[in-house]
Amino acid sequence: MMRCEGICPMAIISINGKDIEVGDQENLNLIQAAQRAGIEIPHYCWHPALSVVASCRMCLVEVGEKRPDGTIIMQPRLVPACQTPARHGTVVLTNSPKARAAQAATLEFLLLNHPLDCPVCDQAGECLLQDYSYKYGRAKSRLRDEKLIRPDKDYIGDQIVLFTDRCIMCTRCVRFTREISGTSELQVIYRGDHAEIDIFPGKPCNNKLAGNVVDICPVGALCSKDFLYKQRVWFLKHQKSVCPHCSTGCSIWIDWNKNIVYRIRPRYNPQANGYFMCDDGRFGYHHVNSRDRLAQPLSRHGSAWVEAGWREMKQIILQHLDSIAQSDRGQSLALVLSPWLTLEEAWLAILAVRARCPETRLVQGPLRDTGFDDTYPKGPRGESPPSERAKFIVRGEKAPNRKGLELLIRHFQKDLLTWEQLPDFIHRAEIRHAYLFACDPLYHLSEQELRCLSNLDTLAVWTLFRNGFDAVASWLIPATSFAEKNGTFVNANGLAQSVRPAISPYANIWPEARFFWELSGQTGLFHPASVRYDIARAIAEFTTLACDDLGEYGVPLGV
Ligand code: SF4
Ligand code: SF4
Ligand code: FES
Repeated sequence: MMRCEGICPMAIISINGKDIEVGDQENLNLIQAAQRAGIEIPHYCWHPALSVVASCRMCLVEVGEKRPDGTIIMQPRLVPACQTPARHGTVVLTNSPKARAAQAATLEFLLLNHPLDCPVCDQAGECLLQDYSYKYGRAKSRLRDEKLIRPDKDYIGDQIVLFTDRCIMCTRCVRFTREISGTSELQVIYRGDHAEIDIFPGKPCNNKLAGNVVDICPVGALCSKDFLYKQRVWFLKHQKSVCPHCSTGCSIWIDWNKNIVYRIRPRYNPQANGYFMCDDGRFGYHHVNSRDRLAQPLSRHGSAWVEAGWREMKQIILQHLDSIAQSDRGQSLALVLSPWLTLEEAWLAILAVRARCPETRLVQGPLRDTGFDDTYPKGPRGESPPSERAKFIVRGEKAPNRKGLELLIRHFQKDLLTWEQLPDFIHRAEIRHAYLFACDPLYHLSEQELRCLSNLDTLAVWTLFRNGFDAVASWLIPATSFAEKNGTFVNANGLAQSVRPAISPYANIWPEARFFWELSGQTGLFHPASVRYDIARAIAEFTTLACDDLGEYGVPLGV
């Protein structure tokens, strides 16, 4: 175990006889160092985003030191791997008889009062108590006394329930509310084997990051009311994607089965959200499964709506574009692009429309914005930290691709026209036709906006729901939700990430990308990576997107 002092800034440590190198400055503990070598050290209370308390004792290992002369001196007592730094010369045994005995004893202790709930527990299948019991525990219980039975706590939060008996008192949830959300709702009450997680009476855990305690709870103690008893987790399929609900662009897992989305979970991304996500994104998927979604293109005939086929709707739009092209080359047409569209969808829509009507005006569509970023952890009086010190930011800008869309529009048109500027153009009758993408399921047009749109001669709206558009539109065309899209979003920091479809489009609707792909006369199937290549070749700001795959964590544009 020699290292080149002064030249090589690597520490060499031995884990179960396997030498591994870690950077001297990486500040890894033994759990992390072992993970590098593909060796699991079981642990409960340690979480990479939280402080170290070393209380569960699940990660006890034998540790020693290798001297320069090659002799190894092992410490007589076991140490918690989560609290032991990976230093040069450290020798670690995770599978010695002593370490194995400690793992089995810890599990036996944790299971003393744990109920046999697996058949009815939401966590079964992704539970660290199950997994570790199987790998490191004893096959039989030696307990002869009655187990302690404690009531469940439905009042813990609007979105979370505590199955008190299942808790192993790792305190991850308590530390989360102290260190990440800063709201400190959760605490340990009582002591010893009577210790329980609870809240201060009347102060439930309802902060905007509360749902994360369900993810970080290593067992089935904290469960999501939204997901409770909906699916056994082994039936779920998982798709990597991006949350659309604000411009933080959290990396997510979409968990789905039989074309229904059941759960959204954060996916680790050091360049975007870290380990967590907010509850707006976590629970903001129900519109995807709604039976009220628009399922068929509709064409207005007087005061009645008539269903149209997709090819028929394509012909209607083509003829409409041709008639505008003949009168003014598109000067009277506004293409209102939603910041919920992917880069590829917006690009294809612009190319298809401008191919026939080259003077079409491009408008950045409706954007919800609270006007401030919600930063965490909160201070003692609920005050927000400045963004530079925030551990998590829920952006005020409630759209996933405002930045990407703006860069795209500016490539085609020097001045960025916004949704707020559009009414002036309509009132002056400079804009008489519009293609409006209303993809944000939570944006409801005001009376005033609807009145303004009613002055248009023709209006085509791509939308998930009717949302009052049937009063003013000429054509209503179903739009896809984020869980059905395939393309790229660019977040507020200029990070481009892949949005991948988890489920097939509702009622076999044509996704926007396919509609405009076909409208522009392209043959074959829409292929997002080749469209992304085209964008990267055409626009300097998107050059870094010229790759086959944007990877786990996305690609920074550097803008
Ligand atoms: S927490 Fe794990 S071990 Fe306990 S009942 Fe749930 S699935 Fe079973
Ligand atoms: S509820 Fe879960 S996260 Fe909280 S202390 Fe218990 S086991 Fe740990
Ligand atoms: S993970 Fe190390 S003591 Fe809990």
